[in-house]
Amino acid sequence: MHTRRLDADAAGIEAAAALLRAGRLVALPTETVYGLGGDATNGRAVAAIFAAKGRPQFNPLIVHLASAAEAPALARWSDAAGRLARAFWPGPLTLVLPRADDCPLAPLVSAGLDSVALRVPAHPVARALLRATGRPVAAPSANPSGRISPTTAEHVLAGLSGRIDAVLDGGPCAVGVESTIVGLTPEPVLLRPGGLPQEEVEAVLGAPLARHGGAGIAAPGQMASHYAPRAAMRLGATRARAGEVHLGFGAVGGDLNLSPAGDPTEAAANLFAHLHALDAQGTARIAVAPIPETGLGRAINDRLRRAAAPRTAPGNAPDPASSW
Ligand code: TXA
Ligand code: MG
Repeated sequence: MHTRRLDADAAGIEAAAALLRAGRLVALPTETVYGLGGDATNGRAVAAIFAAKGRPQFNPLIVHLASAAEAPALARWSDAAGRLARAFWPGPLTLVLPRADDCPLAPLVSAGLDSVALRVPAHPVARALLRATGRPVAAPSANPSGRISPTTAEHVLAGLSGRIDAVLDGGPCAVGVESTIVGLTPEPVLLRPGGLPQEEVEAVLGAPLARHGGAGIAAPGQMASHYAPRAAMRLGATRARAGEVHLGFGAVGGDLNLSPAGDPTEAAANLFAHLHALDAQGTARIAVAPIPETGLGRAINDRLRRAAAPRTAPGNAPDPASSW
């Protein structure tokens, strides 16, 4: 794939918006760092973000909005959320909130959690692109997994050229560090220090922010228990045993199939929705077909192993900093 460099003029923004609406990936400038954007309502596009980054795990992604008015349809809004949004949006603040009932965002955006991270960026090019796209845009920092966040279009191309459709060149980012992430589910918690000082958030809340100390708690998405369905899980199952429902992949058909074509990107897009659907049937045991350890298959297997892990373990959780 050839990665186009688009000027941040009206034609470039319209071209980028058309690509996003078509489910393609476009890196976009924000005031903090460049983001790797995809349509947050399109599970395939969200899965493609993980594939382009080469992430071995599904970390939940930040969903970018053109305006705060879009937030209450996506997340359960609260008084504290409203105060922080009025004070700091658009700007380098991300709010993690409970997902709304009937939230239209792809489950993969939340990595299967019942919360979602929302942010209204301040960069004029990001805002123009979000308005033109007319959809929420999921965007992690636009770097390959394990590399530093990009603050110019050149950084983006150095890391992701050939893996995404385009980069919208808005020049260097002004803030240069990622957004501050505050959890409101519902207790206010600092999940990641960032471009907005903690003190400013505390001044608006009128109370100090709790701060998660231990590795594995700062990014709740990393905790094994958050991924556990109620049902017991058995992995690598080519056929179901008595009392199990079977989640298939490729030729191993199952009761519900992650990807009949055996495509790991399609399987990733379906993973959390299918697990939720099987769990909702109230079945006691889910058997999962073997998934190859290639491409997004590694991230799928990582999540499945966490889901199958003993429920009492607080988590084989990596350092959350590695996911920033
Ligand atoms: O400034 C920024 O925030 C940039 C620009 C592009 O907006 N984005 C960014 O995304 O830094 P990323 O994916 O590199 O970092 C997102 C962080 C991860 O640490 C992830 O675990 C956390 O947000 N996160 C997202 N959704 C979450 C959720 N529902 N619960 C807890 N943490 C969440
Ligand atoms: Mg990052």
